[in-house]
Amino acid sequence: MAAPHPPRTDDWWRDAVIYQVYPRSFADGDGDGTGDLAGVRTRLSHLAELGVDAVWFTPWYASPMVDGGYDVADYRAIDPAFGTLDEAEKLIAEAAELGLRVIVDIVPNHVSDQHAWFREALAAGPGSPERARFHFRPGRGEHGELPPNDWPSQFSGTTWTRVPDGEWYLHLFTPEQPDLNWAHPDVRREHEDVLRFWFERGVAGVRIDSAALLTKDPELRDFTEGVDPHPYVDLDEIHDVYRSWRAIADEYGGVFVGEVWLPDAERFARYLRPDELHTAFNFNFLACPWDPERLRRTIDSTLAEHAPVHAPATWVLCNHDVTRTVTRYGREDTGFDFAAKRFGTPTDLELGTRRARAAALLTLALPGSVYLYQGEELGLPEADIPLDRIQDPMHFRSEGVDPGRDGCRVPLPWEAEAPSYGFGTGTEPWLPQPADWARYAVDRQNADPGSMLSLYRTALELRRAESALGDGALSWLPSPEGVLAFSRAEDLLCAVNLSGDPVPLPPHAAVLLASDELPADGTLPPDTAVWLRT
Ligand code: NOJ
Repeated sequence: MAAPHPPRTDDWWRDAVIYQVYPRSFADGDGDGTGDLAGVRTRLSHLAELGVDAVWFTPWYASPMVDGGYDVADYRAIDPAFGTLDEAEKLIAEAAELGLRVIVDIVPNHVSDQHAWFREALAAGPGSPERARFHFRPGRGEHGELPPNDWPSQFSGTTWTRVPDGEWYLHLFTPEQPDLNWAHPDVRREHEDVLRFWFERGVAGVRIDSAALLTKDPELRDFTEGVDPHPYVDLDEIHDVYRSWRAIADEYGGVFVGEVWLPDAERFARYLRPDELHTAFNFNFLACPWDPERLRRTIDSTLAEHAPVHAPATWVLCNHDVTRTVTRYGREDTGFDFAAKRFGTPTDLELGTRRARAAALLTLALPGSVYLYQGEELGLPEADIPLDRIQDPMHFRSEGVDPGRDGCRVPLPWEAEAPSYGFGTGTEPWLPQPADWARYAVDRQNADPGSMLSLYRTALELRRAESALGDGALSWLPSPEGVLAFSRAEDLLCAVNLSGDPVPLPPHAAVLLASDELPADGTLPPDTAVWLRT
């Protein structure tokens, strides 16, 4: 096992590489086909050897799993399918021994319909204080048969569900995820307490789900296209919540990363003011096509929007909600848009993988922190899930048009020759693994210096050793059309060739790392990236 990494500065999060674990699909310790904390504990060495700084766990709390755990029934309990609180505490301690910090996921916008508060609210009836913690309303129409307003859902379909006594409740996601009323003091108090609960257990940070959606128009007025402000996205009052959360995080030295999808750069940056969230995911970069001009513009605007608030940028290529990187880059449309996902999209995986390798070096050379989603280091493609095995509500709520998000959530292959590729001990995994995944298994890639895993390991090792990488400034260099070239500090240069032709390598003293083999003629082939010592 690799030696523990030296601790970084207190500002570790400004340039950390953070690995996202989707516990259900990482490793199955008890052999029931579902990943669990016991499985994670046996595989932590993979993360230490990969060289990441921290691990973000998507929700591991008690949950009916209607939305993959983003329907939380109890924040202070681990889901029995995943293990126990005691195991989570052990995991946090074992990770720390390997130099890995732990980030948990908090879902403040909604809870599960099985959460004690919602069950109490249903039992207590209209007008009760229990209902005031949610958004219950009478319906419209002569008999209250119409939903209280016209808000669009984040997951196609309606945002209101009627209960037997005739009232309706709001849910921006599925009916099993009722929205909390953030104007209610209990809701604020409870979440502050939950933050303390996890900080007390030694977690280094918290990822905030749907971070811009919590506060709602107090009158729940209708949504009309173009209405300003939007009745539930990015209301000004939300910042008050994060200011009080920040005070709590500061007591423990904890950090936040917000899931903030906002097109407006200035509004986005408000979440990153010094007394609010430390970081937020850079979804503009994730959604950006493999196009030199657009990538450069996205990088520039990212850095420009973060600068005034002194927050570090984050760089993200994929996560548990979006199409896997090698697949996305192998399609005609190399960007990402939830609304555009379709079954059967033609994909050139060889091309996509080549680009994903180049994108890895580009991303890891940019100033700020980087998120890696489990399996990205293996170059896993998006899997086709047979229709009768799909579980994601996004698929069902789109009436079957959207393939959903299961294709990026397939259990990881660890051992090429073992049953379920070493994910578990034999029981069929909760999502089927494709028949040709042996080649992606960790043990195969460990043995292959040309594998995606070897590339990531070497890149992360260099990134750690090179003080020019991570936080700091970036300077663009003159380059041929279709080539991105920039320097970090004096002597380190990153060049990425997104043109269709080979280009001369920029002048250099040494090649530190290339995303693919470089020809002897001193050129950089298409869809290849290189780190050079100048
Ligand atoms: C964002 C999460 O990443 C996604 O998986 C989830 O479905 C929604 N928020 C709702 O919690």
